[in-house]
Amino acid sequence: MDFGMKNRLSKVIQPDGRCFFLPIDHGYFLGPTQCLEKPAETIEPLLPYCDALFVTRGVLRAVVDPGITKPIILRISGGPSVVGKDLANEAITTSIEEVIRLNAAAVGVSVFVGSDYEHQTLMNLAKTVDLCENYGIPVMAVTAVGKETEKRTPRYLALSCRIAAEMGAHVVKTYWCKDFDKVVEGCPVPVVMAGGPKCETELEVFEFVFDGLQKGAIGVNLGRNVWQNPFPVAMSRALQAVIHENMAPKEAFDLFRELKARG
Ligand code: 5RP
Repeated sequence: MDFGMKNRLSKVIQPDGRCFFLPIDHGYFLGPTQCLEKPAETIEPLLPYCDALFVTRGVLRAVVDPGITKPIILRISGGPSVVGKDLANEAITTSIEEVIRLNAAAVGVSVFVGSDYEHQTLMNLAKTVDLCENYGIPVMAVTAVGKETEKRTPRYLALSCRIAAEMGAHVVKTYWCKDFDKVVEGCPVPVVMAGGPKCETELEVFEFVFDGLQKGAIGVNLGRNVWQNPFPVAMSRALQAVIHENMAPKEAFDLFRELKARG
């Protein structure tokens, strides 16, 4: 691995080997979804707690301060919307010149294994890796399931993660599931966890993040369970403690409640 690739990876993955990515890319298929209507207002108070921001070029250019010191992971796949025919029918939306111009530390591309667009989205990933390798830019594969959330079984996620890694992804983002060690063990590159729709309780979030970390994940790319919480700053701080301080779920929940009470 050359200097550029290592240097960029070290910006998004912290010296302890862990990471807390904050995704606010959901608008690329969901539009102004709940709590992301004004992305600048969502991002600003949470930035101190995350290690990188996962965002599209549109939101980056429109609302993110170019003086930002946190690294940017640029989402560069998209195309379909939630009201269209098939969320899996993605293409690459952003050129490599744009990725470099925007000074992205890494890029993210979705793959939809098992969908009608499996081949197309895996080729999106493989071609992105080829292009990004030329410039030392890491690629995060996003193992997406579209509306088919029931697909999130250990067997399916292990298959998707392994294929994404085989295509050359440097990091793979997937969903947490029961027996998560089976997913991580079959994937030869670092795995980060997404949250999916908001959980019923904060404790549930801390529990699955803690479990996934114990089973080998290096961190999270957690969106709705952070910024759709009525207390997103308390949530971010408590998650930061789970990820970087190995705080146990119950202690993290206590910390969350204490911060929430302080307002
Ligand atoms: C949307 C994404 C998100 O970045 C990812 O799903 C993480 O967000 P959440 O925790 O809300 O699921 O890739 O397509």
